[in-house]
Amino acid sequence: MELSLLGKVAIVTGASRGIGLATAKEFIDSGAEVVLVSRDESALAEIKSNLGQKAEYLAVNLGHLDEISKITEFVLKRYSRIDILVNNAATNPYYGKLSDIDLMLEQKTLDVNLLGPLELIKLVYNLYMKDNGGSIVNIASVGGLNIEWNIGFYNVTKAALIHMTRQLALEMGPAVRVNSIAPGLVKTKFAKKLWEDKETSIAENLPLKRIGVPEDIANMALFLASDRSSWMTGQVVVVDGGASVIPSGGVS
Ligand SMILES: NC(=O)c1ccc[n+]([C@@H]2O[C@H](COP(=O)([O-])OP(=O)(O)OC[C@H]3O[C@@H](n4cnc5c(N)ncnc54)[C@H](OP(=O)(O)O)[C@@H]3O)[C@@H](O)[C@H]2O)c1
Repeated sequence: MELSLLGKVAIVTGASRGIGLATAKEFIDSGAEVVLVSRDESALAEIKSNLGQKAEYLAVNLGHLDEISKITEFVLKRYSRIDILVNNAATNPYYGKLSDIDLMLEQKTLDVNLLGPLELIKLVYNLYMKDNGGSIVNIASVGGLNIEWNIGFYNVTKAALIHMTRQLALEMGPAVRVNSIAPGLVKTKFAKKLWEDKETSIAENLPLKRIGVPEDIANMALFLASDRSSWMTGQVVVVDGGASVIPSGGVS
């Protein structure tokens, strides 16, 4: 059983920065060839020029559901295989109460965070993994397990992604394993509003005394993508520096 991804081909969405980029790098370091997907073609081209031959890229908006088949077409034409899919891209265009969100923002969040991943999973499964095996990792959030102010709709999509992971694990085994990761607060552009100006105080309240870095999540994605997790499917793995074990009175 190997943690090595040698000979495997992976798709990582949202790979132009943050957790997706760290995951793509980790996979390449472990021997995989990786197709990086995001909207920003020039950012992806620059990343490829740094990462070298083991990286390819394709600019696709995951919220444009009718364009998602471009990804599988590209990867199968280039490599004739897809062993690993990491659904990492997500959006959160709305801060506020669920009762006030407008339909356009609901639809956008749902498309990028849930329906885009499902469309990609369906294609990857039916075109390759069903007959050849594979591992799918969905990047959810601790928000999908908790109730929070202001990011309620985003959390609804992440809760649905966790549920979808469990359902797909049932339907796709034994050929394909489907797991999800629920990150806590990770220092990326996406979560900047949540950690900027208060990183030290947040870190102090965590059992592990620091907020997350993208590599913390990439390491778990590597484990779930690799054969070392071959008896795991349908799970949500919380990676949060211990935030979820803090009692109501604080850590000390
Ligand atoms: N950071 C945290 O604290 C935290 C906590 C829990 C869960 N997460 C989850 O972790 C994942 C990665 O987030 P991150 O923190 O690494 O954020 P990030 O640094 O802002 O990266 C987000 C990535 O998603 C891509 N993306 C956004 N919308 C897209 C779209 N419509 N189509 C294609 N690509 C799109 C972005 O690329 P382009 O702009 O180039 O398209 C970027 O590569 C997300 O699923 C997020 O929900 C993050």
